[in-house]
Amino acid sequence: MEIVDIHSHVLPEVDDGAVSVDETIAMLRIAYDAGTRKIVATPHMFLDLFHNNDFVQVLDRFEQLKSDLESCQDAFPFLQDMHIYSGAENFASQEFLAALEQGCVLTLNGSRYLLVEFPPVLPFRHFLSVIEKVVATGYTPVIAHPERYGAIQKDPLRVEQFEQMGCVIQVNADSVRGGSGSRAKKCSWRLLQAGWVDVIASDGHRLRWRPPNLGGVLGRLEEEFTKDDIAGWLVENPGRILANKRLAAAVTS
Ligand SMILES: [Fe+2]
Repeated sequence: MEIVDIHSHVLPEVDDGAVSVDETIAMLRIAYDAGTRKIVATPHMFLDLFHNNDFVQVLDRFEQLKSDLESCQDAFPFLQDMHIYSGAENFASQEFLAALEQGCVLTLNGSRYLLVEFPPVLPFRHFLSVIEKVVATGYTPVIAHPERYGAIQKDPLRVEQFEQMGCVIQVNADSVRGGSGSRAKKCSWRLLQAGWVDVIASDGHRLRWRPPNLGGVLGRLEEEFTKDDIAGWLVENPGRILANKRLAAAVTS
């Protein structure tokens, strides 16, 4: 199974992800060993903490990383078989909405799919108004880790409204394993069992903080879901996103 990871913080020195190219390579090695062959670098953007709002700057850093990785291929041959793509995790802030209007946002590998994260305690109605704006601009929102938001933990059924608005639902593997607390774990399983999840991604940050080890969740998933379900979440749907194609029919068990 060649896993496709659409959410990671492997772009170094831009947010709370990798702090150096060395750490990026070590993180990519973990991903590779766990079966990942394609990974999208999705640094936080429009989040006050990192002042990372310029998509041209992020793309420049991404191109620099690609060239650094190419020059390391002799020392790390696995890099020849590990493909990295550009993207961003867009924080639903006023700055984001302003950039959205101007078309100054980074989608996943230049596709129609835009990864969006929300403040953890945002009231539900604000989720809907941001999603409406993203959809009206012509992008397909990919909702990053809904299982981590209070409004969704309180009532997971609300995710169905996201789906009806045309969103893609991305759950973190770490939540499924319980690494983000019992509420996120319970919510992620509820979403998986209800068939509302389209993609599982790593949201890998550091070598020792939620590393991008997507294969590590396979055993737990195989206890409850079919191989087709799992391939849909880890390979098929994320692969379609990178190729800018429509997703397959909803993954259900
Ligand atoms: Fe993230």
